[in-house]
Amino acid sequence: MLETIKNTASFIQNKFKVKPEAGIILGTGLGGLTKEIEIEQTLDYKNIPNFPVSTVEGHHGRLILGKLGGKNIIAMQGRFHYYEGYSMQEVTFPVRVMKMLGIKTLLVSNASGGVNPDYEIGDLMILDDHINLLPNPLIGKNLNELGARFLDMSEPYDHILIEKAKRIAKKNNLKVQIGCYVATSGPTFETPKEYQYFRIIGGDTVGMSTVPEVIIARHMGIPCFAISIITDLGVPGKIVQVTHEEVQKVAAKAETKMTLIMKELIAQI
Ligand code: HPA
Repeated sequence: MLETIKNTASFIQNKFKVKPEAGIILGTGLGGLTKEIEIEQTLDYKNIPNFPVSTVEGHHGRLILGKLGGKNIIAMQGRFHYYEGYSMQEVTFPVRVMKMLGIKTLLVSNASGGVNPDYEIGDLMILDDHINLLPNPLIGKNLNELGARFLDMSEPYDHILIEKAKRIAKKNNLKVQIGCYVATSGPTFETPKEYQYFRIIGGDTVGMSTVPEVIIARHMGIPCFAISIITDLGVPGKIVQVTHEEVQKVAAKAETKMTLIMKELIAQI
């Protein structure tokens, strides 16, 4: 496994000599950030050895290498989800590769359903915790060269990055929620009782991504920041049918706000 990660990293390194400082997973809502990147190189996943290939509508599959907010970055345009049938090792493989390439911070976005009754559709939520209901990506032989067998998760999301993002939001008059993201496998959206259950156990939102990548990044000591767009509500009395199209539509509307926060945050790291 370690050899495979190193081989892929050196393939990318040969194409892009500059060391990226930050890795970005451009999930739902961050498509617009690509327009802000001074792109130096793109690599389609299908041309990268050992990379899985993305299949979901609205998720393109390529790596973008370039500059954003004055920093060298590597961005994943399109991520891998467990519900697509990938193993957890495949879902998180790119994060390990990005670590080998030198990233010091991981920034992630996603879409989620709000279960906190104070949340509204279109809100942004900065993650300050998560509840992982997906299989743990660290199950299996531990890669001691990368991190410890038993991983501390007392600070999954970096408090300094959270504070910076909050300040950026305030300065720009943007409303942000701070909360806990519950990660489920999907691909079904939740039943009303499942939404209720996620609220009772301590969640503010629920979604199908992000947490595997964050666990793997934390395993390697990388500080993480994640932000979510609330695209629908799993709150009693407000539950309506959810579709992938609606999720994409709401996310597109909130894109400007999320892009601004990410761009300024990168400039400050
Ligand atoms: N549930 C799970 N994942 C989601 C949702 C949801 O309501 N909205 C966007 N992603």
